Amino acid sequence: MYRSLLFLVFSLATALVSCGPQEIKFTPSTSEQFRPTYHFTPKTGWMNDPNGLIYMDGEYHLFFQHYPDSTVWGPMHWGHAVSKDLLNWEELPIALFPDSLGYIFSGSAVYDAENSSELGTKENPPMVAIFTFHNSLQEKAGAVDYQTQGLAYSVDKGKTWSKYEANPVLLNPGIRDFRDPKVTQITKANGKKAWLMTLAVKDRVQFYESPNLKDWMLLGEFGQGVGAHGGVWECPELILMKAPNGSQKWVLLVSINPGGPQKGSATQYFIGDFKEGLFTPDDNMIRWLDYGPDNYAGVTWSNLPADQDRNLWIGWMSNWDYAQVVPTSTYRSATTLPREISLFDVDGTLLLKSTPAPELEKLRKATYSISKNESLLPSSAVEILAEVTNDAAFSLTLSNELGEELVISKEMGLVTVDRQKSGKINFNRDFAAAYSAPMSWKAESIRIFLDASSVELFVNEGELVLTAILFPSSPWKKVTLNQGLNSVKIMDLQ
Ligand code: FRU
Repeated sequence: MYRSLLFLVFSLATALVSCGPQEIKFTPSTSEQFRPTYHFTPKTGWMNDPNGLIYMDGEYHLFFQHYPDSTVWGPMHWGHAVSKDLLNWEELPIALFPDSLGYIFSGSAVYDAENSSELGTKENPPMVAIFTFHNSLQEKAGAVDYQTQGLAYSVDKGKTWSKYEANPVLLNPGIRDFRDPKVTQITKANGKKAWLMTLAVKDRVQFYESPNLKDWMLLGEFGQGVGAHGGVWECPELILMKAPNGSQKWVLLVSINPGGPQKGSATQYFIGDFKEGLFTPDDNMIRWLDYGPDNYAGVTWSNLPADQDRNLWIGWMSNWDYAQVVPTSTYRSATTLPREISLFDVDGTLLLKSTPAPELEKLRKATYSISKNESLLPSSAVEILAEVTNDAAFSLTLSNELGEELVISKEMGLVTVDRQKSGKINFNRDFAAAYSAPMSWKAESIRIFLDASSVELFVNEGELVLTAILFPSSPWKKVTLNQGLNSVKIMDLQ
């Protein structure tokens, strides 16, 4: 008889381990029931988008939209954390505070190795952050041009930051939504290097070029009538990627809120070519980076060393529809897992996949093979790995002693994460829902990461991804493999 699924459970991060596979004990959660153990959260206060992702001398910097004085959105700062391994994060003092030009909205950071900005020296080139000033006073006074782009720089490898004295560097042309600059260095057709800024402008993106990060020239724009337009475009990024056949493609990430496939916030992407400020998508299809409700505003790290040939990405694990009312107490929001984004081919069509960063495997502590339909979970921080060997259909339920449950399944070409009975759900009308994504090709593996208040499902190592937050009143204690889906037999599990 065929083997239908091969299941492995890894307990992650939390200390537990004295027991073998036969006698799994449960590790109770700490006082902050919903605080994740291996996802980044700010110690206190509000967080949204990841910002200024940059690697420097062995450290991954993660800046983030932060309001330290409250657990709801407010005057934005750039919070700051660093990690040597993408697993353990150390929160540092706030990097950027609001000033007379406005709140510090989202943006990016680059290493200006040739000191083109002259904000450092040739001997000690600067890190430069490019972000949006949001002037709330002007906004309240009825102006439309209250968002501009500014610079800050660091000459001590990102520890401390100074604002550029002649900010802003890019004025507002009279457009209400004009923000979230993501800057990268490109090599132009003439072989010269230039800085390229991708900016969200209302319902499209604009591309600007600069020799020095201070003087910007508009090259072109993209997006009118293409892609999803259920809300404003935010946090874009243009990335040069290798296709499986070795050719080079440009991938444009665009977050949109509202108007995602599951309501509220989500990130769409386009694959195509980019020349002289003109982005041309290969087709007019709408595609989503993640089909779950809780993955927004993700971007990639800049300045990765040459031996890291990857596009390392992280997102904000929430949704503007309810981010400010989720039932956490001292902080609000976590980041997603760090993921590597890359192109893959399905029947001649290129798509974008998001694979958990391999570093995460270092978190695995004890390994348990599941041999029954129903097994206890060792902790609230686990990774579940399953090989789907006979059929593309599967279904499993995570549950606790209160009858709360989370159901994950694939059936009839739809992959679904159902959090309708997942615990605390009443803080928002739409939170209790089932989220499905179409998958026309075969599921060969599933990988599920559970932390105290999230689930991240990767089918075929990220060819299809669903990310959702949830708030079980008591942690998940059991995983049950449900019978009856097509011909999946669960008795042959290992
Ligand atoms: C996206 C976003 C950005 C903006 C920031 C403000 O979540 O709305 O467009 O810069 O958040 O906090």
